Amino acid sequence: MDDRILDDAQMNDEENAEMSLRPELLDQYIGQDTLKDNLKIFIEAARIREEALDHVILHGPPGLGKTTLSNIIASELGVNIRTTSGPAIERAGDLAAILSSLDAGDVLFIDEIHRLPRAVEEVLYSAMEDFFLDVVIGKGEEARNIRIDLPPFTLVGATTRFGSLSAPLRDRFGVQLRLEYYDVDSLITIVNRTAEIFEVAIDPDSALELAKRSRGTPRIANRLLRRVRDFSIVKQEASITLGTTHHALKVLEVDGLGLDPVDHRIMTTIIETYGGGPVGLETVAVSIGEEVVTLLDVYEPYLIQQGFLERTPRGRKATAKSLDYFKSHREIDIFRNEE
Ligand SMILES: Nc1ncnc2c1ncn2[C@@H]1O[C@H](COP(=O)(O)OP(=O)(O)O)[C@@H](O)[C@H]1O
Ligand SMILES: [Mg+2]
Repeated sequence: MDDRILDDAQMNDEENAEMSLRPELLDQYIGQDTLKDNLKIFIEAARIREEALDHVILHGPPGLGKTTLSNIIASELGVNIRTTSGPAIERAGDLAAILSSLDAGDVLFIDEIHRLPRAVEEVLYSAMEDFFLDVVIGKGEEARNIRIDLPPFTLVGATTRFGSLSAPLRDRFGVQLRLEYYDVDSLITIVNRTAEIFEVAIDPDSALELAKRSRGTPRIANRLLRRVRDFSIVKQEASITLGTTHHALKVLEVDGLGLDPVDHRIMTTIIETYGGGPVGLETVAVSIGEEVVTLLDVYEPYLIQQGFLERTPRGRKATAKSLDYFKSHREIDIFRNEE
């Protein structure tokens, strides 16, 4: 298989560790109840009709379980999954090669589908709609169009940026599912499940604390648990205690709401340098030396969800709630590590 197209070869350690934590069936997938209920029905119907499931788009912030869900969809359908990503498919020919290798009913998972090159995206339309590809073979005078028929397949796309998908692409997904931030109860269940896989005991108040500080995000809950476990092992605890959890989170510079120093820099910049806004996100990014896309995908959605940040037509604005929170945190300097 072509490693350039299939992203698996580029997986780093953290992703490898994540693989072992991924639930494999819908019933093991914690939370997102509405989404799961809907998906169950669509999958069941596809199985009864013996047809490929309609194309699915999964959207929401990073770490909420989009990749996990795409694999679950394939398992529940009992079909194979091919995994690739928007930026990995550079030319229409790359897409043709992947699509023509699918068996009937298979799932093609395209991660970061908003980064698909436009020329590739246009070829994808007929593949999604009528299961054929129009490709140009040869160059100049020799060039001719050929039509390749494809087996019916299910495209599962994932994106952190639903809004930047073109309308024609968006409209071709019959099933559009938005992942929400997880509530604390679901995150407690996820922390306990991961602890079990790690074979480490954790006190209930520690699990609660991790759940509250994970920004509603399973990936972060698992990451924090991994770090807290290290501290607990060094202390030779039989079970992860709340004291160790607090200590580890402090060293990791995660505040009581799960916000990190970048969140704090974003908000204090808007509040202090730009008088609370409105200010363009690009300006904020330059001021704090972060990429705009990182702010857009990773930081802003949670700050908005927590009611600290507002999007207005003229830029980002700090809310009254954020003035209190970030001002008091600045005064006590929560990230100072003495003790
Ligand atoms: N609903 C869930 N239940 C249990 N674990 C989850 C759930 N959603 C995500 N995870 C965990 O979080 C990690 C990140 O999920 P992933 O599917 O890679 O997120 P995304 O693709 O949206 O960035 C996975 O390793 C998985 O273990
Ligand atoms: Mg993913």
